[in-house]
Amino acid sequence: MHKTNLAENIYYLGVNDRRTHLFENLWPLPYGVTYNSYLIVDEKVCLIDTVDRKFTDDYFQQLDNILGDRKVDYVVINHVEPDHSGSLAALRSKYPDITLVGNKKTFPMIQNFYGITEDTITVSDGDELDLGKHKLNFYTIPMVHWPESMVTFESTQNILFSNDAFGSFGTLDGGIFDDEINLSFYEEEAMRYFTNIVGKYCPHTQRALIKLEGLEIKMIAPSHGPIWRSHIPYILEKYQKWSSYAADKGVVIIVGSMYGNTEKMADVIARQLALRGIKNIRIYDPSKTHVSHIISDVFKYKGVMVGSCAYNNEMFPTVENALNELLHKGIKDRVLGVFGSYSWNGGGVKNLEKFSEQIKWEIVNPSVEEKGALKKDKFTEAVALANAMADKLEEDC
Ligand code: FEO
Repeated sequence: MHKTNLAENIYYLGVNDRRTHLFENLWPLPYGVTYNSYLIVDEKVCLIDTVDRKFTDDYFQQLDNILGDRKVDYVVINHVEPDHSGSLAALRSKYPDITLVGNKKTFPMIQNFYGITEDTITVSDGDELDLGKHKLNFYTIPMVHWPESMVTFESTQNILFSNDAFGSFGTLDGGIFDDEINLSFYEEEAMRYFTNIVGKYCPHTQRALIKLEGLEIKMIAPSHGPIWRSHIPYILEKYQKWSSYAADKGVVIIVGSMYGNTEKMADVIARQLALRGIKNIRIYDPSKTHVSHIISDVFKYKGVMVGSCAYNNEMFPTVENALNELLHKGIKDRVLGVFGSYSWNGGGVKNLEKFSEQIKWEIVNPSVEEKGALKKDKFTEAVALANAMADKLEEDC
């Protein structure tokens, strides 16, 4: 098997997961995901994170392939979430003398997850662990993605082991470094990873970016997806953009429709937006498209329009679910318009208007509600709603 070096005596030890359908049992993995660990071989041997426990055997084979009979002295736990700490208990059985390195928030979690309380070193911001030639420094980045999350900086080669930060969905199908892959594919999957998994914590991500500004980073080695060495400003700029809620000119239209009447309104609105020169328009039916993709595009585009038919005097259930996820993510600074239709009683638009109040985005008014099929007067109102959105985007984008 190949040995992949980031630098002399610093190795990539990653595994591809092409079998799990849902990350965190929530988020689709159409292109899989990797769990990346790293190994530094020096006077002391040190692992940075581990991998999901489903892959422990593969992981240990890679480890043995490099180390032979040498033992691992340290394992740095940048993040306790089990996609990275899952092999810890097995690792401790393999190397009973191993010492765990984490911060003060790491070890209560490690005790809760694995019952491990001994052979630990607790580090604080800036502390150094000397491996011989290689030196590791630690910086906490709370809530990127959990309270105990931290990064590890190898200061002789200037490698940042960033854990979830700068990570991506998608397996590594041959290419491991950013100059060996199709970047546009991984940009989409890195954005979906950030927005779905870390996106609730944008202010924390902003604080983490400021904290890491002083480091002279030559390589970013995350715990998911490709290693960044030739496009570091590119991924840093993306993180800056995504975590500050900066958006491109475009509109995401989320529509729930039982018999096509509300969907027809969405098509009318989309056509009018296109006639106004907006090129980025995505219509999503959350009955078909997983909310993971909708969240990612709401981070991407400034305008959001939501249409719902009435369903038992409420909004359509799959639309309600998608909007709950958007509320949960706390995305800020978007422009919203709503519309819908009903058969025998309202409920769709009425509840969309309640959502409008909750999410606190700028609203384009008035909302449009039709009874049954779209007719001439409501067609005119739908066009006016689209024009109001286009006017707003012309001002803002
Ligand atoms: Fe990849 Fe928050 O774990």
